[in-house]
Amino acid sequence: LKKRYKDHARQATPVVQAAVLGAGIMGGGIAFTSARRGTPVRMKDISVAQLELGMTEAAKQLARQVKSGRLSQPKANSVLGSITPQLDDTGFDAVDFVVEAVVENLQVKHKVLAALEDAVAPGTVIASNTSSLRIDDIGAPLKRPEDFVGMHFFNPVPVMALVEVIRGERTSNHAVSTAVGYAVAMGKTPIVVKDCPGFLVNRILTPYINAFSQLVADGADFEQVDKAMEAFGWPMGPAYLQDVVGMDTGVHVIDVIGAGYPQRMPAVERNAVKLLASRQLYGQKSGAGFYAYA
Ligand code: CAA
Ligand code: NAD
Repeated sequence: LKKRYKDHARQATPVVQAAVLGAGIMGGGIAFTSARRGTPVRMKDISVAQLELGMTEAAKQLARQVKSGRLSQPKANSVLGSITPQLDDTGFDAVDFVVEAVVENLQVKHKVLAALEDAVAPGTVIASNTSSLRIDDIGAPLKRPEDFVGMHFFNPVPVMALVEVIRGERTSNHAVSTAVGYAVAMGKTPIVVKDCPGFLVNRILTPYINAFSQLVADGADFEQVDKAMEAFGWPMGPAYLQDVVGMDTGVHVIDVIGAGYPQRMPAVERNAVKLLASRQLYGQKSGAGFYAYA
């Protein structure tokens, strides 16, 4: 795959200073991975607690790498120092790439991206880490849709190799190439995919989660399903995976893909993911989901 996209990577303008919107599960992971691979990054959130969480997670990852001898302490300090947590747009006029990683909600993304477009210079590439929403739908109100591209990372970002780069109808070659180049610079394997609800991976993964929900609605024990899928050879079962992803994000993705492909992914009554989300049991991020976390 790396070979297949080497032309894009060759044409890419290297990203010198990046920014991430959102310091949650994904934004924090993207900021950490960017900094660890040598691209300084501004990390903006509306919540101080989330910024602190993002920095603490990055510090934890670095401490582990220092402890195992893979990284020197001075290098770890400089990586951490190259992540700038912030609540405002300071320095956004000087970044060349921004990844938006706020909640999976079209209206919120429209609002956040409209403000972002005013804060950055023309030519700055803006990427959305959306899981499922079409890039053309997210980018519809933008003044410079040619600078807008999809860049879908997977969770946990530091270890998952794949990144989907999504070309919208109005996305420029420059934006696609720059996203591919940035993914490669982060040590990832990019694939360029078409714009549709769920892109490539979530069109496969979400029906699997839906089938799991149907099994649970039919009376299956989620823990037994997880054990079976692990014994089958998958790294984690569907219930644990949903706890890692977050039930709130899961519900949005199920709804978008369900609406996009109603015949292929029928709705599940008494959907376990939706039931847990309605009780604020979001998974690891909230301390409990299918499983409880200390
Ligand atoms: N954050 C950072 N690093 C992590 C991590 C985390 N949450 N979890 C594990 N790691 C690191 C470990 O530190 C370890 O690193 P080193 O080798 O450098 O020490 C490495 O990953 C392997 O760790 P383990 O041996 O403990 O774990 P493992 O063999 O069980 O693998 C895993 C961990 C790679 C996460 C594996 O369980 C896996 O692939 N799970 C499936 C994840 C998946 O499917 N993600 C996609 C979610 S869906 C999505 O993201 C799309 C969406 O739009 C919702
Ligand atoms: P999250 O809830 O962990 O984090 C979202 C963050 O965005 C929060 O810290 C929140 O405070 C912040 N935020 C909200 N409004 C903001 C604003 N106006 N400006 C700046 N920050 C703001 O969510 P997440 O799981 O990191 O998901 C973020 C995006 O990534 C979603 O689009 C989701 O679909 C996508 N995604 C999620 C996963 C996953 O496994 N969780 C995987 C791939 C893609």
